[in-house]
Amino acid sequence: MKRFHFSTELAGLLVCSAVLLAACGGHSEISQSAPVAKSKVAYEQRMANADAEPQNWLLHGRTFSESRFSPLDGINTQNVTDLKLAWYLDLPEQRGQEATPIVVDGVMYTTSAWSHVLAIDAVTGKQLWHFDPKVPKSTGVKGCCDAVNRGAAYMDDRVFVGTLDGRLIAIDAESGTQIWSVITVDQTKNYTITGAPRVANGKVFIGNGGAEFGVRGYVSAYDADSGEMMWRFYTVPGGPGDPTGTEPVEAQTATWNGEWWKFGGGGTVWDSMAFEKETNTLYFGVGNGTPWNPNLRSAGKGDNWFLSSIVAVDASSGEYKWHYQTTPGEAWDYTATQHIILADVEMAGKTRKVLMQAPKNGFFYVLDRMTGKLISAENFVNVTWASHVDLESGRPVVNPEAEYWKTGKTALVSPAFLGGHNWHPMSYSEDTKLVYLPAQVTAFPYLADDDMSPAKLAVNLGVDTSAAALPDDPNVIEQVKKATSGHLLAWDPATQKEVWRVEYPGPWNGGVLSTAGGLVFQGSATGYLNAYSATNGETLWQFPSQTGIVAPPISYSVDGEQYITVSAGWGGIFPLITGPLALDSADGHPINRSRLLTFKVGGSAELPPTTEKLRDMPELTTQQLDTKQVAHGFEVYDRYCGGCHGAGAVGGGVIPDLRYSGFIHSAEAFKQVVLDGILSTRGMVGFSSELSEEDAEAARAYLISRNQFAHKIGDTQRLSR
Ligand code: HEC
Repeated sequence: MKRFHFSTELAGLLVCSAVLLAACGGHSEISQSAPVAKSKVAYEQRMANADAEPQNWLLHGRTFSESRFSPLDGINTQNVTDLKLAWYLDLPEQRGQEATPIVVDGVMYTTSAWSHVLAIDAVTGKQLWHFDPKVPKSTGVKGCCDAVNRGAAYMDDRVFVGTLDGRLIAIDAESGTQIWSVITVDQTKNYTITGAPRVANGKVFIGNGGAEFGVRGYVSAYDADSGEMMWRFYTVPGGPGDPTGTEPVEAQTATWNGEWWKFGGGGTVWDSMAFEKETNTLYFGVGNGTPWNPNLRSAGKGDNWFLSSIVAVDASSGEYKWHYQTTPGEAWDYTATQHIILADVEMAGKTRKVLMQAPKNGFFYVLDRMTGKLISAENFVNVTWASHVDLESGRPVVNPEAEYWKTGKTALVSPAFLGGHNWHPMSYSEDTKLVYLPAQVTAFPYLADDDMSPAKLAVNLGVDTSAAALPDDPNVIEQVKKATSGHLLAWDPATQKEVWRVEYPGPWNGGVLSTAGGLVFQGSATGYLNAYSATNGETLWQFPSQTGIVAPPISYSVDGEQYITVSAGWGGIFPLITGPLALDSADGHPINRSRLLTFKVGGSAELPPTTEKLRDMPELTTQQLDTKQVAHGFEVYDRYCGGCHGAGAVGGGVIPDLRYSGFIHSAEAFKQVVLDGILSTRGMVGFSSELSEEDAEAARAYLISRNQFAHKIGDTQRLSR
């Protein structure tokens, strides 16, 4: 029986269904001229009052509250048309770029794919140092979602990064040399780190990812000086003999059934966190369960704390304060790891201390962050899995038809596992009091598959989606594309209503920045950085970035000059798995050009001209194919390859499009890549532990059939690697 392994079927599924002196470039000059806080107490104060330093972007979401609103107004609705490129810097590694840069007193610290860290002169774009953690490229196969990294943290002259292979590293901010490094995960398991560490109170907080690949989630705090672990909070209870942390073990375990620990249980804390100084609280978002199918995970019952929850803990001790579970007993990959914003919002004549999140499940939640009690929840995109959220109980009212593990039938559910909103950060403007959120319209047909036989290099979700495999019929593909879309949504959290929207051709557009200049900045999958009016969404400015942008922009100033920076570089899970859909989102011509782009009014830099041409017709392989072998090849491809090389073997612009690969024309060369792993140092592992020569030959036959099909429909206009 065929299962869904982040693969080929996806597409069908979606349908149906410092002051740095302007002239100075050298690092030593910076430390001399910059008022760097030498005292730790002083730096803690600076972080707590980050709002009072609009020239800097000290923390991941600029302030502890993670609002991603810049109080700078040097670039505004009047002069944004004169916004020009000030400088650009090519990033190491041509994979998805998702980082938020940090800017401290004229120096920028950012990360690239494969967890590289860079320090850059924020005025000139000159690289000051480059730290390569040398992540083994074979780690790539442990992750669902590209080799991305969402940024570094800075505290007390140190830069902190979580690496894809699970290390947390402290780097000297001036020299770029490593101070300490700790392994935060069991590296024999499929853990990865893609999220940015958060810093406060002399501690570094870090989670991890890997839920689909059979891990148990947790978040940990490390001492920033020594790298010693201070506490750990497990989001999922362990099995017999497994360690426990600061979580409320008994209450948590009571919400689970069966033998979930055999599959890890999931609940990874792979992205969002926010810190609150007054109450010394760390808030973090928890991911989905694994397997997705609750029958297999928890004997079909139980809320399964703390899956899909927002959890508040004491930042010093890790002790539990409260949690709010967005999707009790979740079954649809509805992570609540999406961006968390803390704000004081006027609601019905009262100022409320709230926490806001728009998780994958499609509801926009406003919680009282002192108690964790739900204030309001409304759907911000089409939602079919629940009719509404009951304000009294705080629980969703689930649509029985969406419970595929109970009905045994296929349930077409919105949003899909890609979410009504994914990791791309939203922004809350303190001027307009609106949240600007990158929304996505998606649907997915879920069908239970109770046969659970985990494989080491593939995921098993307990969900069979073969009915939704991407068909070859171009008309059907067109329909799928039409049913999938993305937009920038301006949302009033006080009234839970849409104010305006900007439509895009597809999902997977960039994170958002709002500014006191009355502007909202967002990159798009289509290869532009856009500036919109914060009040009505009118497009005021666009810059062609030569690649899709998924990362969020930031703003800072040096010597009174305001800058906007964004990491450009198409990638992440969507282009890896959705094939034709990703091409459509990217307006037909995706390519990863990984670059840091920085803008100012009157900038005079220019990007080099693009040299790539559209692809030639794929070489036609006239070879006669055995239908049975092709069918087996599809199964192999679907399980082991489609998660990176795309639905229907259509590359989404980041990883080679195998329909056009020279390797499919030689059985020997293909085997060397696919079984022996001759490209493993480049991120393509060998699958000899999982696949036989017959399997590899079958996969090759399937790819040849895809080559022939591309030829038949004349699919030559796709520019990809
Ligand atoms: C974890 C992601 C991942 C998975 C899973 C994966 N690949 Fe790859 N593959 C890559 C990357 C990255 C490259 C590019 C390596 C490079 O830059 O040379 C690649 C390259 C290749 C190439 C060479 C393409 C060319 O023309 O240069 C072939 C052939 C290939 N993969 C086949 C497969 C097959 C068959 C499977 C499934 C059995 C598979 N891959 C699974 C990531 C993956």
